[in-house]
Amino acid sequence: MHGARHRQDLLPRCLKLLDRQKTLVSRPDVSALDRGVLLHFQSLIAAVAASQKTVMAFQEAVMAFQEAVVAMNPVGIALTLVGALVGLLGSTLSKSEDPEAECEKKEHEQGGLIKHCHHTVDEENDCPVTPVLDAIRNRRSVFPKQYIDREIPSAVVQSMLDAAAWAPYHGPRPPWRFVVLGKQAMVEMQQLTLKFYDKNWAQTGWANGKKGTAEEYLRWREMTEQEITGRWGPCSYMIANVMRRQAGSKRLPEWEEAAATACAVHNMHIQACSFPGVACYWSSWHDAARDSAEMASFLGLEDKEDKVLGFLVIAAYAPDLLTDKDRRVRGRSHTMAEWRV
Ligand SMILES: Cc1cc2nc3c(=O)[nH]c(=O)nc-3n(C[C@H](O)[C@H](O)[C@H](O)COP(=O)(O)O)c2cc1C
Repeated sequence: MHGARHRQDLLPRCLKLLDRQKTLVSRPDVSALDRGVLLHFQSLIAAVAASQKTVMAFQEAVMAFQEAVVAMNPVGIALTLVGALVGLLGSTLSKSEDPEAECEKKEHEQGGLIKHCHHTVDEENDCPVTPVLDAIRNRRSVFPKQYIDREIPSAVVQSMLDAAAWAPYHGPRPPWRFVVLGKQAMVEMQQLTLKFYDKNWAQTGWANGKKGTAEEYLRWREMTEQEITGRWGPCSYMIANVMRRQAGSKRLPEWEEAAATACAVHNMHIQACSFPGVACYWSSWHDAARDSAEMASFLGLEDKEDKVLGFLVIAAYAPDLLTDKDRRVRGRSHTMAEWRV
């Protein structure tokens, strides 16, 4: 932040210096040699102003100028003063108390690989913590047990959809489609689920593949029906995550479309967690019902290869009642990375 502010200051200061230089160049007592140096300096400042090059390049230019001035005649004294002024400006810009400037220096040393470096450090892992990493770490799944009866504004969902739009995707159009189910639509979707199992339980099983007797099915059914007002009752929305298969001859592999849709879902979840008190988690939903023709028709899937990749469940919760104990822990051992360097 500080570095950015200094860089913004740089432009007006350069323009002021340019003005001063122009006045000096037009003075009749300036020799041709001095004028040449002045013009050279002028172009340097103009270059800095135009391109806002790095502080280091700026300081190098100033030092070169000062060296040229030191080797000069009486007019050079005046010029050295200007140079000193510029040097001061340069050193202000590169002050080490500016953490971003420090990081820029580090970035330069490391070949420009660290693009964004910010002020805090993860002491456990000795790495910089960026706002991005903060936001990613802040994402967590909050489950129905924690939900309270409070409405989540639709603007929260809209901002989640806005975040989804920034996910990467291959090809000409996003391979996702989201269907936002409000209170009534959520109930309809659950009734559709029950109806589907009533018809198909003997073949598909229920509860993600569980099979058993009619009595067992009916017990599960009763519990699941109660969940409409119980477990899911406090939910404000469920978002159906639909992966759309591209039409036409140049079809991309399905995995790319599933991966892109998952990225969009992840963006939504991260965005949801930026609002205090907004609970969100990704549910697979009941598998056979989720993959059924009835669900496809309910959600308006266009192609038989489109897929419902579960639902994002959105509700309110009381953050004070939730501790870090309730969440899955992550650490370096979860990166599952093999370095071959
Ligand atoms: C595609 C997908 C589907 C999931 N489905 C369910 C589910 O149906 N029920 C469930 O309890 N957890 C499900 N999970 C796991 C949770 O949503 C959550 O990600 C997990 O508990 C880890 O917690 P965290 O998100 O706070 O790190 C699913 C996760 C993914 C990625």
